Amino acid sequence: EASELGRWPHYMIKEINETAASVRMVAGMPRSAFAPAVARLGKGDIALCGAGSSHYVCMLGQYFFHQIAGRRAICHSADEFMNLARLDADATLITISQSGETYDTLRVMEYAQADGAALVAVNNVAGSTAQRMAEFPILQQAGREVCVLSTKSVVSQTAIAWRLAAELAAGPDGADLTDLATLATQLDELVQGMSDTIRDVAERYRWIEHWFFLGRGLHWPVAAESALKFKEVSYIHAEAMPAGFLKHGTISLIDEKFFTVAFIPNAQTDPESFAHVVSSLHEIAARGGNIIGFGHDLPASFAEGLLEAYVQLPSVSKFMDPVIQMVAGQLFAYHGAVKLGRNIDRPRALAKAVTVR
Ligand code: AGP
Repeated sequence: EASELGRWPHYMIKEINETAASVRMVAGMPRSAFAPAVARLGKGDIALCGAGSSHYVCMLGQYFFHQIAGRRAICHSADEFMNLARLDADATLITISQSGETYDTLRVMEYAQADGAALVAVNNVAGSTAQRMAEFPILQQAGREVCVLSTKSVVSQTAIAWRLAAELAAGPDGADLTDLATLATQLDELVQGMSDTIRDVAERYRWIEHWFFLGRGLHWPVAAESALKFKEVSYIHAEAMPAGFLKHGTISLIDEKFFTVAFIPNAQTDPESFAHVVSSLHEIAARGGNIIGFGHDLPASFAEGLLEAYVQLPSVSKFMDPVIQMVAGQLFAYHGAVKLGRNIDRPRALAKAVTVR
């Protein structure tokens, strides 16, 4: 393993630096790699299922199918799926799992298969159980992920979920992949050019013990995934929430000791979600709460009045921005945890694949 690490201090940061390559890999996959699964998705109900970070990618996939392809998709975490849904024989279940060996996800695949549903399995490990079970296996080809925390693999899974929705929407013409190519370029810009800025912020606030992570629309799954990553590696409490949910009770926690990470959508590409998030941030600021903002092109006066710290991220299209923000969240979690002296690649109590009940 040591030889693979090369110049990097940890696999987590090495693999964050490979996120752009994982997107290029998905952009380079031929349409034929998706066509059989996409043809089947056109037939009946769509369901998405995964565990942990892979569940949050499924949540993003739910937004993609709704907003890009105009298709309703159900989505439940693998551990609760069978308590909430039953699929019929026309349905297609898309499972997402880096390892392809997660117990909860494999059980849902068996459950759906028994009812005759078709299985699309998105996995990074070739020859995994999920790849062998599915009629429509899609291999991520993101390269081996060593760190227990998923970074490049969640990015690659998100690109594949986008491609499934975009190919379904595009029909025989095929999806325009320009946005994926731009995303890869901007991911390189982010991880090579902005890691130090994010490190400074993460180090400055590493002693804060309780956090909210907020987002809206496409940025709600980003907030959820980023809070999970932050908790896994730093052992610090973070609660993720849709920005609009805050006012329904949790806002009573806000005071001058409370910190929030806000994933602020781009005002140019997603104005409605941007306006909603900003209005939630005003509510927090009015109660003395502190906000770390990840966003785009915010005027300095705006950022200064509202935010304790602001990180300006590279701009990409609406459906690619969740990936940029997710990787910013990965860097935030990584740098804070390094400063805290945590066991970065193998946090306590965690395993790369949860293969037990
Ligand atoms: C991610 O950082 C976690 N280690 C964990 O939530 C993981 O995503 C989950 O256990 C699912 O694993 P899988 O993708 O291999 O199914």
